[in-house]
Amino acid sequence: MQRPATSDVISRPNTSPLPSRAPDNALLRQYPTIPMMREGARKKLPYFAFAYLDGGAGEDSGIARNWRALDAVELVPRYGVSTELPPIETELFGRRYAGPFGVAPMGSPSLGFPGADRHLATAAQAARLPYTLSAVGGMTVEEAAKVAPDVLWFQVPRLPRDNHKIGFDMVRRAEEVGAHVLVLTMDTPIRTIRPRETRSGIRSPFRPDLRMMLSILASPSWFAAMRRYGVPRLASFQRYAPNANLAEMTEFVRKQASGAFTWDEVAMYRERWKRPLLVKGIVHPGDAERAVALGCDGVVVSVHGGRQIEALPAPIDALPAVAAAVGRRATVIMDSGVRSGTDVVRALALGAHAAFMGKGFMWSLGALGADGPLHAMDLLIDETKAALGQIGARSIQEARATEVRHPGAFRFSSPA
Ligand SMILES: Cc1cc2nc3c(=O)[nH]c(=O)nc-3n(C[C@H](O)[C@H](O)[C@H](O)COP(=O)(O)O)c2cc1C
Repeated sequence: MQRPATSDVISRPNTSPLPSRAPDNALLRQYPTIPMMREGARKKLPYFAFAYLDGGAGEDSGIARNWRALDAVELVPRYGVSTELPPIETELFGRRYAGPFGVAPMGSPSLGFPGADRHLATAAQAARLPYTLSAVGGMTVEEAAKVAPDVLWFQVPRLPRDNHKIGFDMVRRAEEVGAHVLVLTMDTPIRTIRPRETRSGIRSPFRPDLRMMLSILASPSWFAAMRRYGVPRLASFQRYAPNANLAEMTEFVRKQASGAFTWDEVAMYRERWKRPLLVKGIVHPGDAERAVALGCDGVVVSVHGGRQIEALPAPIDALPAVAAAVGRRATVIMDSGVRSGTDVVRALALGAHAAFMGKGFMWSLGALGADGPLHAMDLLIDETKAALGQIGARSIQEARATEVRHPGAFRFSSPA
């Protein structure tokens, strides 16, 4: 699809009452929603790739809760207000984006679809939406900065060895190439087991057995993508173990990465990183307060999409308390369960400044290959405008003042 220059995207008023694409658009007809792309991905991907990108902790009940909790949020419309689609351009940390949503960080996304990092970054740059590269992704931050120079955010896991030598070096590299926001993930204190992934037989490094090979052969798009982009690699670590083969590199990273950041470590990163800093994986308002007190610029209310443990509250339910605690002083982003523009508006109405999506973008790759992410982004753009128009909100500010019924709102008994 032909895209306007990025400067046009941010200034394009686009208050037309029509969505950006005609209903007979081929992609739209094939996949009119993001969940429909999940079904496409399930059919088209090798079983292990789908298990990797789609599977959660335990019985997947955390994933189901995230969806249910979003579905339960009711928005009360006001009519007679406007007949135009509202503008949704959004400022996050001083930069303008095409909408209040973005791509959440995903490690080893190439296992879900080879070349995933590159496709996601390219689409995000074209759509002008934030793209968060994971340090355990398949592209280096230097490569990502070439593909997505205007929209690059960077996420690092905890790499405590040698007094965080590699983590700090990655942050230096990210700064050097112009990544705009640094994201520290807090919600992986313990390695998790995802039963669907385990049962699929995925091993790290990627070594397909016979059953996997047969499944790859039955999946032409995945096979072609693997031939073009190769097997998943841990690109950002390559310079720290330059001669390591795939197996040695996996072992190297396994030894480096452990646990999740302590608050003292967050403070150390805050000292080194001068640009906007986010902590991700916050559920408790007291943790959000702590992050802001340490100088973080925002928090991501998230449960890792239900991939770590299935017993956590849905982020949409924790969001109002977190937003009440820090939303005036810091940027509050929510992820986990977002599957539509309507979900984005639900998050805005409950106090988020933006909502990010992970699995939905992976489904789009599974369903449509390289064309998927931009289609998912266009859907989010059109659906968000449509949802705002449907409830009579003329702007994101008005969406944030929508009357909401929220039966699942979490009441924290210990505020600090
Ligand atoms: C395949 C995959 C890999 C992920 N890897 C990471 C990661 O390396 N670091 C991180 O902070 N979050 C990671 N996440 C979590 C996402 O950043 C995000 O929190 C989650 O996907 C949001 O929920 P959703 O999938 O329901 O949209 C991963 C998610 C997926 C689906």
